[in-house]
Amino acid sequence: MRLLTPLKTLSRLLTPTAKIIDGKKISADIQNGIKEEINGWVAAGHKRPALRAILVGDDPASCTYVNKKMIASREVGIDSDTVRLPSTISQEDLVKKIEELNNDNNIDGILIQLPVPDHINEREICNAVHVDKDVDGFHVTNIGKLVANQDTFIPATSLAVIELIRIIGIDTFGKRAVVCGRSKNVGLPIFQMLHADYRNELPGLEATAIMCHRNTKPEDLVMYCQSADIIITATGVPGLIKPHMVKEGACIIDVGLTRITTPEGKSKLVGDADYEGCLARAGYITPAPGGVGPVTVAMLMKNTFKACKNFDRQRSNQK
Ligand code: GUN
Repeated sequence: MRLLTPLKTLSRLLTPTAKIIDGKKISADIQNGIKEEINGWVAAGHKRPALRAILVGDDPASCTYVNKKMIASREVGIDSDTVRLPSTISQEDLVKKIEELNNDNNIDGILIQLPVPDHINEREICNAVHVDKDVDGFHVTNIGKLVANQDTFIPATSLAVIELIRIIGIDTFGKRAVVCGRSKNVGLPIFQMLHADYRNELPGLEATAIMCHRNTKPEDLVMYCQSADIIITATGVPGLIKPHMVKEGACIIDVGLTRITTPEGKSKLVGDADYEGCLARAGYITPAPGGVGPVTVAMLMKNTFKACKNFDRQRSNQK
């Protein structure tokens, strides 16, 4: 009997308690909603939204991501296509191609799949996209608008994280949120949306947000995470978030996705959090893959439809 008690306690401690956030289901629901809206929009005589992806080179992961985006776009009724360009293309020719799409009145949204080859200046390329067609939200003007709490295109991955928090109904007002990873396209926009005032053109989540990055001391990362109600991790460091770092009942949103080889020699995609271990501590957790990723694709659809509606409004105002 004396032996059973600690075993029982141990087994209770190891029993998964977290609610698993089903990104595929949430994404399917959002995309069904967008599909219905687009059907209604087109039936009412408006132009069908149109998206073009530019893929430079043939990196297999980038090809897979772009294909997923194109398939999902077509499913919701967005006219979509990929412009495939060789990895040897010059910066000048790539900018010319972007300008062609900028000047095409039929196209509402343009995305350049990143990363681009080393000889291309990524910042200049992101800034070459027309601000109003920048459905990825990577143009410096759109980043500025986000920081200034003005309505803009929020980068799809960051928007997916914010939407997931809203959809699940996580209370963020005055809560502690730790963001791990400071990339301009993911960590920074998430951090910005988390701490911003909700009384804005772009309503924020009013959390107390802390940004950790590669130079945060390991002991500080542990301390911040242990006090966090929400942990959002986007570092690409498998196993960064360990169970002892998670406050009981906290929400973990895992944006990381890294291909690893298991000790058995199998190839596997994993997130930043020790998923199995954190299940027993967290209140909510996203699996990786199958959490944030599918919702990201849905957010790109949302941004593309938004661009289309914005252009329609601009055209009506010119009449
Ligand atoms: N590469 C990795 N993530 C993204 C993304 O969200 N958009 C684009 N354009 N490229 C990426």
